[in-house]
Amino acid sequence: MNYYPDEIIEEVRLNNDLVEVVSEYIRLERKGGGYFGLCPFHSEKTPSFHVEPVKQFYYCFGCNNGGNVYHFIMNIENLTFPDALRLLADRAGIVLPEPDNREEQEKIRLRKSILDINRAAARFFFSCLAAEKGKEALKYLHNRGLSNRIIKRFGIGYAPNEWDLLSNFLLKEGFDESILIQSGLAIKNKYDKLIDRFRGRIMFPIFDIRGNIVAFGGRVMDDSLPKYINSPETPCYSKGRELFGMHIAKKSREKKLLIVEGYMDVISLHQAGIDFAVAPLGTALTSMQGRMLKKYSDEIILAYDSDTAGQKATERGLEVLNNLDCRVRVLQIPDGKDPDDFIRKNGPEKFKMLIERAISLLEYKISLLKNMHSPDNEESKLKFLNGVADLLTKQENFLEREIIIRKISRNYNITEDAIHAEVERRLKQKQRKEKTTEFYSAKKELKGSVKTYKVGKNEGVRVRYEKMLLALLCRENQLYHKVVNRYEPSDFCDENLRKMAGVLYDKLGTGNDFLLEEYISKLAPEIASSIIHVSKTLSNIDEPEKALEDILQKLEVLKLEEEKKDILMRLKNISNVEEKKQLQKQLQSIIRKIANV
Ligand code: GTP
Ligand code: MN
Repeated sequence: MNYYPDEIIEEVRLNNDLVEVVSEYIRLERKGGGYFGLCPFHSEKTPSFHVEPVKQFYYCFGCNNGGNVYHFIMNIENLTFPDALRLLADRAGIVLPEPDNREEQEKIRLRKSILDINRAAARFFFSCLAAEKGKEALKYLHNRGLSNRIIKRFGIGYAPNEWDLLSNFLLKEGFDESILIQSGLAIKNKYDKLIDRFRGRIMFPIFDIRGNIVAFGGRVMDDSLPKYINSPETPCYSKGRELFGMHIAKKSREKKLLIVEGYMDVISLHQAGIDFAVAPLGTALTSMQGRMLKKYSDEIILAYDSDTAGQKATERGLEVLNNLDCRVRVLQIPDGKDPDDFIRKNGPEKFKMLIERAISLLEYKISLLKNMHSPDNEESKLKFLNGVADLLTKQENFLEREIIIRKISRNYNITEDAIHAEVERRLKQKQRKEKTTEFYSAKKELKGSVKTYKVGKNEGVRVRYEKMLLALLCRENQLYHKVVNRYEPSDFCDENLRKMAGVLYDKLGTGNDFLLEEYISKLAPEIASSIIHVSKTLSNIDEPEKALEDILQKLEVLKLEEEKKDILMRLKNISNVEEKKQLQKQLQSIIRKIANV
């Protein structure tokens, strides 16, 4: 199941700090020796998701999901182990060797072929734009204010209005039909003939963050519909993962990123010197895109159109980014314009002023409240002010809170003291509530201790004790000598545990360390989860030797009882007197042994 050498698997793990990786997905808070956050694998209101920075384990007390960085990525990105490994290797800048498996090799090869064919297609489209048949298209772009320089920087091209111009070119270049189709550049028509997907369109290559061309967007040059056709999802392209313009924006000197709606907005902004603009690919902002934005910026500015669709997109985007704990501001363009229109009419400097004036999340929410309750009569004014007090309670930054309080006080003719008092009252109320929930969540945690360790769905008592034995040995290596002669690897009845015991005994027997955090990389997420669970429940044992003795005795009894059951079964089916005597003797000895334990 692992097609890469163990050393590589371990190197990749060590170069991806679990706390950092998890923080890209959820907000973690330090507490004691570890970190807590809201579990991304089940819905909850109080944090029971725990990350141990030293051991590099995570575990959720609520849903029992646990493991190391590999399991986290496999679970949260829904990836197979090799894909999780590749993602983490990428993240750490580690180059992987070729995998030792045909299927995996095929996958990598296919991705590479698609990137190759896309590059060839982009060159083709670009050269068509410069050729005679691209004259109209070039004129269209010039009319929209684009310079040749920006056309080149974004690799914009033109797909002539013919059935199979590109397909024939690519076939001649040596690409085979299957790649043409798998890349989405060509489709089979109903007569089973290969035709180009993009015909008579301005072509925008979509680059991933590393500068690979992963897809295309094609725009018509008139008002016909659909306005855009995009590449389908392929092994190289998932629209929720990419951001148009990101490969350039990530190199910007500004540590901001500006999010706009369309390809043309991005291009127009870059031409105006605002080189930190990006756009999602015609869909709502996803948390995957949010994570990329967070990683490459200190601040994110949403600059969606001010129409209702744009406002909805802003609200959704804010929610996604807020969940990721990003710093966000909202830029408002006057008169329902999009950034492209605005710049063409008012010039780059005016747009830069809008960026300066982008408002905070809090101000944006207040402006939405204001739209909802116009403060011209007393009743709706009160509703508005109560809403503001609610928002201020959630505002952690005192300075911003103070600025807003001053503004509201001035605009609504209400004393600052009154607003302060109301916010204070709400805060106290909230704290009282939190104390009670904290008490309950602490109680829930305690339930996960040894005494109440629950038997899993199909897990017998013996497997449970075998897990405890291994977990204890991982923690207390010096106990190995007390175990080795009493419970051997071959005694383990669960196959995974038998394997693990084999490795563990081997390492400890030859004086080496056994690293659970390394070993579990090889385990399926469910098994890793339950091993981590047991190891966690054993972490606060004061007398390991005594615990070991209890576990071993229990296991010995369980093992003997199974042998006893086995003999009783055999006795039933045996007629040979001699053999029967023999078995009865064995049975007596087992019964005696059980009594002795
Ligand atoms: P212009 O009209 O040329 O200014 O294009 P634009 O890039 O500004 O597009 P617009 O604001 O109309 O739409 C925003 C984004 O939504 C586009 O960049 C596309 O990603 C996407 N989009 C718009 N229309 C379509 C469509 O017809 N089909 C698909 N698949 N996506 C579209
Ligand atoms: Mn536009």
